Amino acid sequence: MTIRLTDLGKAVLDTEYAVRGPIVARAAELEKQGREIIYCNIGNPQSLGQKALTWNRQILALCEYPALMDLAPGAFPADAIATARAILAGTKHGLGAYSESRGVCFIREAVAEFILERDHIGVDPDAIFLTDGASKGVQTILRLLIGGPQDGIMVPIPQYPLYSATITLYEGRMAPYYLDEANGWKLSRAMLEASLAQAKAEGTRVKAICVINPGNPTGGVLDEANIAMIIDFAKAHGLSILADEVYQENIYLPADAFVSFARVLHQMEVKEVSLFSFHSCSKGFLGECGVRGGYFEFRNVPDDVAAQILKLQSVNLCANLPGQAATFAMVRPPKPGMPSYATYAAEKGAILDTLKQRAILLAEGLNRIGGITCNVIAGAMYAFPSIALPPGRTDSDYAMALLEQTGICVVPGSGFGQVEGTAHFRTTILPPTEKIQQVVKDLAEFHRTFK
Ligand SMILES: Cc1ncc(COP(=O)(O)O)c(C=O)c1O
Repeated sequence: MTIRLTDLGKAVLDTEYAVRGPIVARAAELEKQGREIIYCNIGNPQSLGQKALTWNRQILALCEYPALMDLAPGAFPADAIATARAILAGTKHGLGAYSESRGVCFIREAVAEFILERDHIGVDPDAIFLTDGASKGVQTILRLLIGGPQDGIMVPIPQYPLYSATITLYEGRMAPYYLDEANGWKLSRAMLEASLAQAKAEGTRVKAICVINPGNPTGGVLDEANIAMIIDFAKAHGLSILADEVYQENIYLPADAFVSFARVLHQMEVKEVSLFSFHSCSKGFLGECGVRGGYFEFRNVPDDVAAQILKLQSVNLCANLPGQAATFAMVRPPKPGMPSYATYAAEKGAILDTLKQRAILLAEGLNRIGGITCNVIAGAMYAFPSIALPPGRTDSDYAMALLEQTGICVVPGSGFGQVEGTAHFRTTILPPTEKIQQVVKDLAEFHRTFK
C-alpha cells in the first residue's frame, strides 16, 4: 500500500504557506493556458527581470569553474579574480566539498568585518553561521527555542508566513502582536505587553519575540527608539529576540536609516537578552534568491547553548558552498578605486533607485483607488493595502477574482494575519515600472466592479 495522507503528522497537514498557496497554483494553471500573469505574490526580484550584479556573478563563475581564469584571461577584472582566488583558498577544497558546519571560517570572518563596519561593534566569527538563505537560519533558531506544545514565539501580525509555518511544523504556538496600521505599522510597548499577557493567560510559555525590520509585508521601518523599546521589553520578560533584517538595504525614505538590533543591544549594554540576527543574499539590491546564501549571528548566547546550535547545524553538514561564496561577495563589495567599483556602484544605485520609484508609484496609485488605503512603503519590497470588501466576501475571494479577471497574482492578507474584521492583500513592488502602472489601472477597474 502506498503512503496515505492519514499517515502524515498533524503538524505537517496544518502547516500553511500562503505565498505559494492555491492562488499561485491557479496562476500557474492560467499561465499554462496562455494567459499573461503578473506575479506580484513573492519577493523574487530576478523572476521579474532584475539583473544579477556583475560582481556577484563573476565571483560565482570563477569560484565554480576556476579554469576560467586561464581560459578567458582578460575577461574578468583583477579584483574579481583576486576575490575568487581568496575564496577558493579559504575553502581549501573549492565549492564541491563540504565546509565546516558553521560555514567557511574565512567567509565568517568577512561577515564579522561587515558587521563591524556597519555597526562599529565587535563580532565573534564563531557566533556567525552561514546558511542556505535566511529561512534555514530562522528554522534552526525556532527549532532550538520550541521545546514543547506550550512554547510560544511572539510574531508580528501581519507577518511573513515562514514564521507561522515553521512554528506550526515544530508544534509550538504563535503569540501574535499587532502592528499599528494607523501609525505606519509601528509597534508600541502597550501592544507588546497586552499580547504577552494574553499569551500567558492562555498558558503559553513565551520564549522569544520575532521582529522583521524593515517589515514584510508592511514595508515599515523601525527607528532606534522603537528597537530599544523592544530590547527593554525582551529584557523585562526574559525573552530572546529574532531580528529578521533581510531587507536592511531596502530603505526608501531619506529620513529613515537601517539600525540593527545588534548595534542597539550593544549600545544599551544589555547582557541578559539573547539575540539572533538574520541576513540574506536574496533581498536588498542583490536579489539572489535562487543562490540561497545568508547568515545568522548571535549575541549573549552561553557556550553550552551555542554548542547545541552547532550540533543542529551539523545535522545539515553545512550550507551550500556557492551560497557561501555569494555571501562573501555580498559582505565584501568592491571599494572605491578597485576596477569593479564603478560598475558595482552603478548597478546597485540603479536597482535601489527603481525600487524606490516603484514604491512611490505603487503606494500613490493604490491610494487613488476608492476603497483601497495603503501606508507609505518605507522599506522592504511590498505594499499591504487595506481593502473595503462587499459584505460576505473575503480577501481570498478578492485575490482569486483579481487573478481570474486581470492576471494579477497577489496574496490575500489572511495569509499574513490581520486585525479581525479588516481585509488586505500583499503585492510586491518588483514588477517593471510599466507593469506597475498596468497593475494600478487594472486594480482600479477590478475594485470598482468587485461584488
Ligand atoms: C522577512 C523575510 N525573512 C526571510 C525571508 C527568507 O529569505 P531567504 O531564505 O531567501 O533568505 C524572506 C523572503 O521573502 C522574508 O521576506
